[in-house]
Amino acid sequence: MFWIKVMDFVKNMYDRGKEKDLLSHLSEPLKMHEASIEFPFIVSHPELISIGRGTQILSYARVQPYPELVDKPPLVSIGQNCFMGYRTCILAGADITIGNNVLVASDVTIVSHNHEINPRETIPYIRQGISISPIEIGDNCWIGDKVMILPGVKIGRGCVIGAGAVVTKSIPDYSIAVGNPARVIKQYDFSNEQWSKK
Ligand SMILES: CC(C)(COP(=O)(O)OP(=O)(O)OC[C@H]1O[C@@H](n2cnc3c(N)ncnc32)[C@H](O)[C@@H]1OP(=O)(O)O)[C@@H](O)C(=O)NCCC(=O)NCCS
Repeated sequence: MFWIKVMDFVKNMYDRGKEKDLLSHLSEPLKMHEASIEFPFIVSHPELISIGRGTQILSYARVQPYPELVDKPPLVSIGQNCFMGYRTCILAGADITIGNNVLVASDVTIVSHNHEINPRETIPYIRQGISISPIEIGDNCWIGDKVMILPGVKIGRGCVIGAGAVVTKSIPDYSIAVGNPARVIKQYDFSNEQWSKK
C-alpha cells in the first residue's frame, strides 16, 4: 500500500515558502504522488493523517486529529482512489479509518469523540473530558450528501448511506441505510444480485 503522509504536503508548502497558501485558494489542486487536495484545506497534526494514492479531496475540507485530548494519538487513514466532496469534516479523538474506493459526497461530517455531558454548573461541558470511539468505513462505500457519522460507528464494505443520514450505530456490509437515526432499508442479495428490502 502506498501512503501519502499529509505531513509531506504541508512540509512541501513550507519548503516552498508558501505557508500562507495553506489556508488560501490555489488555482490548481496541490498534487503529490497522484493524490490531490484542493485548498483551502484546514488541517492540524498532519503527521497523523495518511491518504492513499489516487484519492481526491475537494476544497474546504477540515481534517483534525486531537492528540492533545487523549492518551493515544488518533490516526486518520483514508484509502486509495477515494473521492471526498466539498467541506468534508473529519474530527478525530479516536482513529478514523476509511477504506479504498470510498465516495464521500459534500458536507459530510465524521466525528469520533463526544464531550462528556455531566451538567454540573461548576464545570461546563467545554471543560469536561471527552469520550472516544473509533470509526471505520469499509471499501467501496458511498456516503451521501450531508451525512453525519458519529463515534463508534463501523460501516461495512459496499454500503450506501442516503443523503442527510445520521449514522449512530454500525451498518453491516452491503446495506443501504437512510434517515435519522440511520436504519438499514435494503441489503444486497448476492444470490439473485438485487437489493432486497429489509
Ligand atoms: C439512498 C438512495 C441512494 C436511494 O436508494 P434506493 O435504494 O434507490 O432507495 P429508494 O428510492 O428505493 O427509497 C427507499 C425508501 O427510502 C426512502 N429514502 C430514500 N433516500 C432517503 C434519504 N436520503 N433519506 C431518507 N429516506 C430516504 C424513500 O423515500 C423510500 O421510502 P418509502 O419506502 O417509505 O417510500 C438515495 O435516495 C440517496 O439518498 N442518494 C444520495 C444522493 C447524494 O447524496 N448524492 C451526492 C452525489 S455524490
